Amino acid sequence: MKKVIRKAIFPVAGLGTRFLPATKASPKEMLPIVDKPLIQYAVEEAVGAGIDVMVFITGRSKRAIPDHFDKAYEVETELANRGKIETLKIVQNIVPPHVTCVYIRQAEALGLGHAVSCAKAVIGDEPFAVLLADDLIDDGEKGCLSQMVRIFEDWQCSLLGVEKIDPAETESYGIVRATQITDRLGKIGEIVEKPKPEAAPSNLAVVGRYILTPTIFDKLDRLSKGAGGEIQLTDAIAQLLQEEPVLAYEFYGKRYDCGSKLGYLIATVEQGLKHPELRNEFKSYLKQLVIE
Ligand code: UTP
Repeated sequence: MKKVIRKAIFPVAGLGTRFLPATKASPKEMLPIVDKPLIQYAVEEAVGAGIDVMVFITGRSKRAIPDHFDKAYEVETELANRGKIETLKIVQNIVPPHVTCVYIRQAEALGLGHAVSCAKAVIGDEPFAVLLADDLIDDGEKGCLSQMVRIFEDWQCSLLGVEKIDPAETESYGIVRATQITDRLGKIGEIVEKPKPEAAPSNLAVVGRYILTPTIFDKLDRLSKGAGGEIQLTDAIAQLLQEEPVLAYEFYGKRYDCGSKLGYLIATVEQGLKHPELRNEFKSYLKQLVIE
């Protein structure tokens, strides 16, 4: 029987040091792009891909995330009293009623691989998705994960979202070597975490979208610390692909690296220019700013 992806992990326990002091007491994933926090974009993408169990790996200073996906009695009562029904609906419908949110604390930020392994008991023996909310991907349709789920339906194996990057930037990513299967799909032969440009097997970088089989948990359990002294998901994937096929998928859409200040600013400007309420005024403002 064909397997389906029903659960997604959102690792949100990182320290977000590139955004200090903004992330001293509040999570990076709650930074808004225009009027929605990054984590909400990621959850909406997962809902669009048919996922109904959202597993958040949280840490200290992350309480705003469960609060965001919970009922907000005070605000809701106040909006209802003031007759602000449209805004009330927005606040009440952050996640559809059929979606379950699960929160797991990662006591120490030991790395992305460790964060994923914290979800083992909740995921069980099923394939699952991992979304990193600081990679915001806009494909103008249902989202990058929907594209990946469609491919998983046919191939039934692990699949990583990849993008061609500037070869000078390989040290910021997991980099794969893949043998081409179709235009956008390849079978991964090698994956390396943050290689120097001269040692990188290609310029195909893994970005924050993964579909993984549960075999990854056995690999993570046996892993010792890798690059940066962290338990790296990339190292577990390197072991996984010795046993099972792992595919690289070059998704359609634009990715914004909202974990970096520049990427965050670019996302804010570009999404502002698409926002139905703001786009005209904001565009005029930007034009004027450039002329001056
Ligand atoms: P990053 O490498 O972006 O690290 O983590 P970070 O801590 O969030 O940010 P900087 O680099 O210090 O500014 C990639 C993803 O993995 C999660 C992060 O929350 C982010 O979504 N993560 C990382 C964890 O959940 N736990 C960890 O121990 C490490």
